[in-house]
Amino acid sequence: MLILGFALLVLGGFLALFLRDYGITLPLAGFWQYMLAAIFFALAGAWLFSDRLAGRIMRQLGEVTAAAKRIAGGDWETEIRRPEEGEIGELASAINGISRTIKENVRELAESKGRLEAVLANMESGVLLFDGEGRLSLINPAAEGFLGVRAEEVMGMPHVEAVKNYSLSSLIDDVLRSWKLARKEISLIYPQERTVETHAAPIFGVGGEPHGVVVVLYDISEIKHLERVRAEFVANVSHELKTPVTAVKGFAETLLSGALYNFRAAEEFVNIINEEAERLSRLIHDLLELSKIESKGFRLRIEPLELDAEIKRIVDKLKPQFLKKELTLTTDLPPEPVIVGADRDQIEQVLLNLLDNSLKYTPGGGQVEVSLRQDGGDVIVAVKDTGIGIPPEDLPRIFERFYRVDKARSRKLGGTGLGLSIVKHIIEAHRGRVWVESEPGKGSQFYFSLPIDNRG
Ligand SMILES: Nc1ncnc2c1ncn2[C@@H]1O[C@H](COP(=O)(O)OP(=O)(O)O)[C@@H](O)[C@H]1O
Ligand SMILES: [Mg+2]
Repeated sequence: MLILGFALLVLGGFLALFLRDYGITLPLAGFWQYMLAAIFFALAGAWLFSDRLAGRIMRQLGEVTAAAKRIAGGDWETEIRRPEEGEIGELASAINGISRTIKENVRELAESKGRLEAVLANMESGVLLFDGEGRLSLINPAAEGFLGVRAEEVMGMPHVEAVKNYSLSSLIDDVLRSWKLARKEISLIYPQERTVETHAAPIFGVGGEPHGVVVVLYDISEIKHLERVRAEFVANVSHELKTPVTAVKGFAETLLSGALYNFRAAEEFVNIINEEAERLSRLIHDLLELSKIESKGFRLRIEPLELDAEIKRIVDKLKPQFLKKELTLTTDLPPEPVIVGADRDQIEQVLLNLLDNSLKYTPGGGQVEVSLRQDGGDVIVAVKDTGIGIPPEDLPRIFERFYRVDKARSRKLGGTGLGLSIVKHIIEAHRGRVWVESEPGKGSQFYFSLPIDNRG
């Protein structure tokens, strides 16, 4: 600027000299004449220069303002190109810096939002978020499934309408009123019967003011079901044990109170006591067997087993009992050996249980056949009898513990009601399958499959 002013001053001097040379003289003394001309040119030059400079600054400022507006409007990609030298250049690079920081923050926010959404979407627990007024502001897929609602239909609704469950709504109300954590076990009926452990907690803002409620639902139906099954099992066991113990005690007391001296009565009672004691022992044996198979540490001892030979051995062993009841017991086995990976003792247990049932539930004169065939990678063993059969309504429950079609008949025949559940456990531990076909009055066919290539 200084150089420019000086240059203009010199130029003005030269111009005054030039005018004088041509005889044009101003009405002033020589020196002032030069000075005036010089000042005039200096001013004119300065005015021209500052006008152009101001124009350029305004244009650059306009660009910067426009870019800042775009950034403010959410266009984080905006960058002011070629930041100029000087203050405006610094302003431009400061705005570029802000824009980059915002862009980075937005990217981090989007990433953590994405992570949160992925967690919520893949959680087995249901999560719901309500604002301070109790309106639904977030629901994850698990919660949609539990409550049988769709997010887009219930979002923004008051909790009473959104969750359509009185217990859950009153829990949310409690938290909205007290701003304290609350938990409750809630039964859901629609779309599926479920028991859910529910935790509702207040959400507090940065300043500590409450502004919403988060609700987490855990499905505990399976745990509840297992609790029920266990309780039922304990009740069943107690009942099953009580019957023979009561009989033993009753007859022993009768004997002690005089019947001992009546020889015929004494013999009969002692026989009953013996039978009941045997039943107790069978029951305890089966219970121990079942608990062994069900225990966590239970391991099969898998070895190559020649299944056809094993079947033959067991059938031969049981034949006398079948003959005694006038039942024919036959086998239908393939000519070549069938070798499978299996636990010999456990497979023997399965065959003994199935054949014991056929023996018990087939009237004299009937037939029982054990067959073996290969089916792809499996072998299928069938135990078929011409016995009393099983009514269709009982078929689905026949493998449950203590389930018997006719309790009295089973008891009379020495059954415990545990045989088939032991069979099922053993076969499933071998990664096999067990099923039954039956027609009352005609007979039953029990099947089990075993994978040939079994590693347990
Ligand atoms: N071969 C069969 N024929 C008819 N009913 C059967 C046969 N096998 C099993 N059942 C029915 O299934 C029930 C359960 O069998 P199981 O678990 O072996 O108990 P249990 O033999 O001790 O009664 C039996 O009580 C009986 O009602
Ligand atoms: Mg049985």
